[in-house]
Amino acid sequence: MLVLGIESSCDECSVAVVEDGKRILSNVIATQIDLHKPFNGVVPEIASRLHTEWIYPVVEESLAEAGVSVDQIDGIAVTNRPGLVGSLLVGLSFAKGLAWSLNIPFVGVDHIRAHLYAPHLEYEIEYPYIGLLVSGGHTIISKVSGFDDVEVLGTTIDDACGEAFDKVAKFYNFGYPGGVIIDKMSEKGDPKAFSFPKPNLHKGDHTYDVSYSGLKTAVINQLDQFHNEGYEKSPENIAASFQKTAIDILIKRLKKAVKNTGLTRVVAGGGVTANSYFRKAISSIYGIEAYYPSLKLCTDNGAMIAAIGYHYLKKGDVSDLTVNAMARVAS
Ligand code: KG4
Ligand code: ZN
Repeated sequence: MLVLGIESSCDECSVAVVEDGKRILSNVIATQIDLHKPFNGVVPEIASRLHTEWIYPVVEESLAEAGVSVDQIDGIAVTNRPGLVGSLLVGLSFAKGLAWSLNIPFVGVDHIRAHLYAPHLEYEIEYPYIGLLVSGGHTIISKVSGFDDVEVLGTTIDDACGEAFDKVAKFYNFGYPGGVIIDKMSEKGDPKAFSFPKPNLHKGDHTYDVSYSGLKTAVINQLDQFHNEGYEKSPENIAASFQKTAIDILIKRLKKAVKNTGLTRVVAGGGVTANSYFRKAISSIYGIEAYYPSLKLCTDNGAMIAAIGYHYLKKGDVSDLTVNAMARVAS
């Protein structure tokens, strides 16, 4: 089954052709990063206008790269939640129109679940496992028993992890996009230069929850208080110390989830899994099997949408033309 996957929830306009939920025939990603750079963040109005201009040529390029014609497509999967509503509506409306004109099924899928499914494109992974979704909008630790069977164990109680990277970078004018730049700067920094605080969420219902607003505030406002003697207050040292603390918060919660559930498989997805310190840290957790996507599949892409969409389409779980775009989802 050939599935066309359409992703337009934020600032990437991406379309992929994936065979049987596994074989990527094309995965074209048109990024708007340079156009949002002057504003130090994604401007929703600009994002949706660019999606409107780009979606058709990106679909055409994706089909051409895959070497298939549009009538060979068996179904369409499209992100319809969560995200910027104006941007989501562009991909969703395009998918509806194309599915209707070709008389093929389409399905609206959850972007968060798709991120978590991305490693399945590259590895054979058995269920159940501990899932970690860590992106610009979400930080969720879950128990995953099937592609559509996700039990949330913990989440952030305030900022998402990627959001903290972006906000710290914005405050210090490190550049945009924040996560990638902090990762790069950290290569030349010393992670021990600052002792930034980790959240203290041990009690009650917060066993697997994380928090990033305290860390963000400490990095931004209370620099002097946590500066370790003998180290320089260089931007690189700030970046490296922040990065280590932000990722260590995740790793600590993951270890706890592994210990308490007895599940030793851990699957991670979302933009922050591109982080080089994260990739080293998760790979070195003792006694677990860790999976995370290759760099191109960490951040937003159409292939992960097509891959998870295939499973819904296969079991006849399709959407109709009344399906809408949603800024948020319950989980
Ligand atoms: O998954 P994604 O592309 O979009 C959302 O669904 O949010 O994730 C984007 C987030 C941004 O916050 C970005 O700063 C972060 O992922 N990110 C990184 C890195 N690459 C992207 N954070 C840390 N290190 C990176 N190398
Ligand atoms: Zn995403």
